Amino acid sequence: MKVSPSLLSANFANMLPDLEMINRSESDYLHMDIMDGVFVPNISFGFPVMKSVSKICNKPLDVHLMIVEPQKWISQVRDCGAEIMNVHQEACLHLHSCVQQIHSAGMKAGVTLCPATPVSTLEDIIADVDLVLLMSVNPGFGGQPFIRHTLKKTRELRSLIEQTGSKAEIEIDGGVNLQTGQELADAGADILVAGSFVFGAKNPEETISELKKLK
Ligand code: DX5
Ligand code: ZN
Repeated sequence: MKVSPSLLSANFANMLPDLEMINRSESDYLHMDIMDGVFVPNISFGFPVMKSVSKICNKPLDVHLMIVEPQKWISQVRDCGAEIMNVHQEACLHLHSCVQQIHSAGMKAGVTLCPATPVSTLEDIIADVDLVLLMSVNPGFGGQPFIRHTLKKTRELRSLIEQTGSKAEIEIDGGVNLQTGQELADAGADILVAGSFVFGAKNPEETISELKKLK
C-alpha cells in the first residue's frame, strides 16, 4: 500500500520535527490540504507554507485543493513543487480542460469526489486522469469517522478503471486507520491518506510502516 500522511494533523507551531519524521519514514507522499473557506467551511494554509514545506520535505507532494475554481492556481501549485494536483470534481465547471492544464504544467492530475458524488460522474474523464481521490469524510476537517459507503465506491471505481483500461490510481482520504485501511485495501485502494491516525499516534513513523504493510 502507498501512504500519504496528511500534514493537516501536524503541529503547525513547530512543523520541522514532523517533516523530519516524514522524511525518515516509509511514506510515499506528503498530503497537503489547501482550503479556502468557500468550497469547505474551514481555512488551512496556502502557497507560502507549501513552498517552505517543499524545501524541507523529500517526499513528493500530493496536493488536495479544497477550493473553488482550482484551475486559476495551477502554475502556483506547480511552483510550490507539487507532484500531484488534486481538484474537486464539484469545484470544476470545465474538468477536462483543468486536467489538460495540470498535465501541461507538468503535474499528475487527480480528480477528487465528495462523499455524495457518484463514481459514475468520472466515466468521461477516467481515461485522462492519473489518480482519483475518494473522500471518505466530508472535506474540511481531520479526525472525522470513516463513511463506510466509501468501500462500495472504491469497488465501483476499481471496476470502472478495469473496464476502461485507465491507469488511474485510487486514493482514499478521511478516517483511515489500520482497520478501515485493510477494508480499503481489500476493496482496491492504492494509496491511503492518514492525518490524525499518523500524527496522533505514539510512534507516527511506525504507524506509517504499519499502513504500508496493508495489502
Ligand atoms: C479533510 C482532509 C484530509 C484530512 C484527513 O478534508 O482532506 O486529508 O487531513 O484527516 P484524517 O485522516 O484525520 O481523517
Ligand atoms: Zn485531503
